[in-house]
Amino acid sequence: MSASMQASAAEPILRLRGISKNFGAVSALTDIDLDVRPGEVVALVGDNGAGKSTLVKILAGVFQPSAGTIEYLGQQVILSGPGKALELGIATVFQDLALCENLDVVANLFLGHELSPWQLDEVGMELRAWSLLRELAARIPSVRQPIASLSGGQRQTVAIARSLLLQPKIIMLDEPTAALGVAQTAEVLNLIERVRDRGLGVIIISHNMEDVRAVADRIIVLRLGRNNGVFTAETTHQELVTAITGAAENSVTRRQKSRSDQAISREAGL
Ligand SMILES: Nc1ncnc2c1ncn2[C@@H]1O[C@H](COP(=O)(O)OP(=O)(O)OP(=O)(O)O)[C@@H](O)[C@H]1O
Ligand SMILES: [Mg+2]
Repeated sequence: MSASMQASAAEPILRLRGISKNFGAVSALTDIDLDVRPGEVVALVGDNGAGKSTLVKILAGVFQPSAGTIEYLGQQVILSGPGKALELGIATVFQDLALCENLDVVANLFLGHELSPWQLDEVGMELRAWSLLRELAARIPSVRQPIASLSGGQRQTVAIARSLLLQPKIIMLDEPTAALGVAQTAEVLNLIERVRDRGLGVIIISHNMEDVRAVADRIIVLRLGRNNGVFTAETTHQELVTAITGAAENSVTRRQKSRSDQAISREAGL
């Protein structure tokens, strides 16, 4: 394999090593390693308090890690604030979406994009909105509809589209399918696949194992702030639940642990 092929095949966009985060006496994260490559969806799963949001907030520049390193495109970086993460190309769609109900889709897409390199007029923004939503095959009848008139899935679509305007290399989605019905969930999962196909690295947090198994290339289980296994879409629901809850050791968990150790070794390139 040529050097250029090797680089394009698998160089991670993000490489976390030994990330820990303490809040006073609480260890929210301990010694987390994580690689995210272009064109892959990595799911973070785990029980309440497992540390998922803390990890996402570290990557969004909201929290500073207590220990560990973050490499972005091969360079060690300090994500000193949300602006820094965005500027580098790490976008986050938080669970509340932060959309303005009374404004239309175009206004919401361009709201707060002062960082954008381009200045567009109304017509330019509308055209850009249309072309982006078309690229994403988004089912939004009119970009002049107010957000208040959209379904939950459409809102999620607008929030994801908005974060893509800054052309990030990583997009993080916190619970993108929570509170959505079956059809809207399918729409959002489809959108995540399209984003992945554009070569972005996608990190999703979800409590829904069906969704995770439908869309994730790798599933990272966090438990009590530690990595408790790396799985694939072939993993059974039961195996995931066992890793998440840390059920008592039995033959099934032993088997699953040895598989996850192998996966961790693979991920760490050992
Ligand atoms: N700002 C904070 N100050 C103090 N402790 C915090 C803070 N944020 C999170 N924690 C603690 O860190 C741990 C991990 O929390 P985190 O919110 O990351 O979990 P989570 O996996 O996102 O859970 P959930 O599924 O409920 O959203 C918990 O013990 C939590 O109480
Ligand atoms: Mg959380």
